[in-house]
Amino acid sequence: MPTSDAKTDLWAIACDHGGLNLKNHLHSLLKKWDYQVQDLGTDKAESVDYPDFAIKVAKGVAAGEYIRGILVCGTGIGMSMTANRFESVRAALCTSAYTARMARAHNDANILCLGERVIGLGEAEDILKVFCEQEFEGDRHAKRIAKIKRG
Ligand code: RB5
Repeated sequence: MPTSDAKTDLWAIACDHGGLNLKNHLHSLLKKWDYQVQDLGTDKAESVDYPDFAIKVAKGVAAGEYIRGILVCGTGIGMSMTANRFESVRAALCTSAYTARMARAHNDANILCLGERVIGLGEAEDILKVFCEQEFEGDRHAKRIAKIKRG
């Protein structure tokens, strides 16, 4: 079970129709691991627009309402593009436990983006676990993150 301090704070999770099954599965997993998670939809299989859901989560993370976010669509690409438009959001599209580890350790990612049509369930579970547990290493990485600016 993940042991991050982030557990006491509120997380947000959302998806479009392409990420519905994986979002529901990861939501259950986070709850099982005792995280406080708000599900911001979608909760139906009907086609929706991914930016509407990415914006809800990214806005909340940027405002400090949520400590971290999870966004799932078909590829994870549209979610990450949209979320990264928001100040202080560092959304990482991860396809392996290794990229998730680096996203946290080096990039202090605060939103995890996943593609349900790209990765399998087992890989997604491993990615989520690493995203929950891995701490940011700070130091030289903090200096680099400070250089990330809106154009
Ligand atoms: C929806 O068909 C699909 O385009 C969406 O889930 C996502 O992959 C976009 O980046």
